[in-house]
Amino acid sequence: MDILIIGSGGREHAFAWKIAQSPRLGKLFIAPGNSGTALCGTNVNISPLDFEKIGAFVLANHIDMVVVGPEDPLVKGIYDYFQSSELLKKVPVIGPCKAGAQLEGSKDFSKQFMLRHQIPTAAYKTFSRTTLNEGLKFLETLSPPYVLKADGLAAGKGVVIPSTLEDAKAELTAMLADAKFGAASAQVVVEEFLNGIELSVFVLSDGISYKVLPSAKDYKRIGEGDQGLNTGGMGAVSPVPFADAAFLEKVEKRIIIPTIDGLKKDGIDYRGFIFIGLMNCNGDPYVIEYNCRMGDPETETVLPRIQSDLIDLFEGVASQTLDRCNYSTDPRTAVTVMLVAGGYPGDYQKGDVINGVEQISGSLVFHAGTTNSGSEVVTNGGRVLAITSLGESISQASSLSVKNAEKITYTGKYYRKDIGKDLETLSFPVK
Ligand code: AMP
Ligand code: GLY
Repeated sequence: MDILIIGSGGREHAFAWKIAQSPRLGKLFIAPGNSGTALCGTNVNISPLDFEKIGAFVLANHIDMVVVGPEDPLVKGIYDYFQSSELLKKVPVIGPCKAGAQLEGSKDFSKQFMLRHQIPTAAYKTFSRTTLNEGLKFLETLSPPYVLKADGLAAGKGVVIPSTLEDAKAELTAMLADAKFGAASAQVVVEEFLNGIELSVFVLSDGISYKVLPSAKDYKRIGEGDQGLNTGGMGAVSPVPFADAAFLEKVEKRIIIPTIDGLKKDGIDYRGFIFIGLMNCNGDPYVIEYNCRMGDPETETVLPRIQSDLIDLFEGVASQTLDRCNYSTDPRTAVTVMLVAGGYPGDYQKGDVINGVEQISGSLVFHAGTTNSGSEVVTNGGRVLAITSLGESISQASSLSVKNAEKITYTGKYYRKDIGKDLETLSFPVK
């Protein structure tokens, strides 16, 4: 089977690495890919948003399946683009249709969806420019901190959590009246602040049945001890120790089943990943957000724990026979440490030569922001490399990832040495 992966980050290298292990793989292409994906298949220089070029490539190369990594092409309708063509509709796209991708593409849509299907989430109201005054009054009825979310995609920056009423009012005004996030903040969801500890659960669905993939916890802040600016993710741990069987049963019963049933009831044929961001509040799960794709770096943490053949699972998604697919996981713990460019998540430079990758032993290396320059691999993004280790405990896996991270050199290299540390000292069960 010949497969095309869309995207260019650590997530897509992890998909390429896993798919390349399948005896069923013929040729593997990645558009546009990075230096790491080039080790697993052939990179093709096509933008994930250029559906016409992607379609032409798929037909010219007789591709049998397209796996979509990032949210942008899904929210913009790559699935529907394939469905609208007699020739392309025969090629399965792993990733939801445009209507399903709205779970991530519109916070207001996802909140309405949860309300309609009685899925636990923070109480909320949505405001637009014409209802700004009502929004300001609504803020006065809440207690701090305040949670403001731009409705549309805002490159992970659209959620603001001011701690004073004054700041919350200024922020809501900036988002609605001054279009702080452009069209993405034409509507703003204002919601209740949930107190608890976060984790993510990943589900693969064929529109009828589903598989619950390993849970993960990611570390979003740049600094150790979860301090400083938000990033795309500085590392992740899987499984999450406080997501024990009892908690995961609540997640499945109260959230996953109603989500899959809700999509069916709403007539949305969802074939792809659902990434559910959760808050564990006193032992009860609440949905913070849905994403219509896998997480990054969570994919680099979760996929190494999946033992089953990914092509089999994807074929199950395409033919709606996922319930008949084998699915098993590695019980060990995976810890991913992300190496980033100096200055990230602010301004950072690109083009620095990366050395030491061949020195790494006992861990997996996934390329995120890298490219080839002549015979060298150079930095090409804020998040540069992800190092994942499997171990019998968080501390064992984390120490190995950190030890290997030390061996990599490039100008401005930075990484967190404390990924998973908070979970080691947490008392269980978290209530
Ligand atoms: P989102 O983009 O929706 O994941 O939000 C970004 C981050 O904001 C989340 O990972 C949480 O840490 C935080 N957050 C979002 N919604 C809430 C909420 N209702 N209560 C507390 N924290 C929240
Ligand atoms: N690591 C968070 C995300 O992929 O959205």
